[in-house]
Amino acid sequence: MNFELITTDSGSNARAGKITTAHGEIETPIFMPVGTVGSVKAVTQEQLRADVQAQIILGNTYHLYLRPGLEVLSLAGGLHKFNGWDRPILTDSGGYQVFSLAANRKIKEEGVVFQSHIDGSRHLFTPENVMDIQRTIGADIIMAFDECPPYPSEYRYARKSMELTHRWLDRCITRLNDTQPAYGHEQTLFPIVQGSTYKDLRKASAEYIASRNCAGNAIGGLSVGEPENEMYEMCGLVCESLPTDKPRYLMGVGTPWNILENIGLGIDMFDCVMPTRNGRNGMLFTWNGVINIRNKKWATDFSPVDANSPCFATNTYSKAYLRHLFVAGEILGMTLASIHNLAFYLELVKEARKQILAGTFATWKTGMINQLKTRL
Ligand code: GUN
Repeated sequence: MNFELITTDSGSNARAGKITTAHGEIETPIFMPVGTVGSVKAVTQEQLRADVQAQIILGNTYHLYLRPGLEVLSLAGGLHKFNGWDRPILTDSGGYQVFSLAANRKIKEEGVVFQSHIDGSRHLFTPENVMDIQRTIGADIIMAFDECPPYPSEYRYARKSMELTHRWLDRCITRLNDTQPAYGHEQTLFPIVQGSTYKDLRKASAEYIASRNCAGNAIGGLSVGEPENEMYEMCGLVCESLPTDKPRYLMGVGTPWNILENIGLGIDMFDCVMPTRNGRNGMLFTWNGVINIRNKKWATDFSPVDANSPCFATNTYSKAYLRHLFVAGEILGMTLASIHNLAFYLELVKEARKQILAGTFATWKTGMINQLKTRL
């Protein structure tokens, strides 16, 4: 994997860059649609390519390991072949899902013992087997196995958890260096900064992660319930200690305005379930603000969500029709709302990149944020 830093904005820490992987290029800043089980819910790969214009999607080690399982993924020749997505893929390590989804989890130095949320079966994730599993899945970018502490966490717990995440990182690096990619293409490890909402821990974690000299770095443990200003404070502080010549990925964030603020702090990559999950509930994100499409006020609004959008779902179907689909419980409503929201998130980061390259990002962002937050 290669990262080319093209420009840093003069009025903020926003950056425009380009990542090159074995499955193609990614222009940063970028948003990555979440395809937890190897499928971005309600959206086909063709729609992701043509309508959403996704450049990279995410998969989850926890879910893919439990179902369909490693035997199927290995026989398929990896996730790219299995799900027909031939552009870049990133897999999260399970270090988050095992804490948010699994039952009876027990954290030890060796790893985490947990019970599947599907059938209650018992499993052990260690830094070593999580690297092996991600080799079998075959994503271009793979994440280190970490512990994401809850918010709020006591200082002592947050420190111990961060130190464990650092020791696990060393074991991930060793295992990865001792093994080969399963399908011939390069796989790049991103370590994850933790430290809860404690400034000294965040700084120590960012410095440790930077010292491991990986090709890209991630920030975890944010957007877990803390106030937005605390997220921005932690993110800004961590970016100061992470190298400028490597991509920075903020995990699990967020709203359109969260994304613009964090781009301004120096983040290059984002993922979040919000555009798809909220879309399936009838929430549409637009350049003018947020629409609840179930609202009666849209019943006879026959204009498209945005006539100027290049996305077919956005520029074609009327708000009245979309509302009808949701009120009638038609599955097409979920598909169109998901495509629209993802296309909007991709347009948002594309426009941010354009503004960074033009040197106008900081002023553009300030005006845009209030607009994006408006409830329509
Ligand atoms: N997704 C969102 N936050 C996190 C995190 O802290 N760790 C991991 N592995 N994934 C995440």
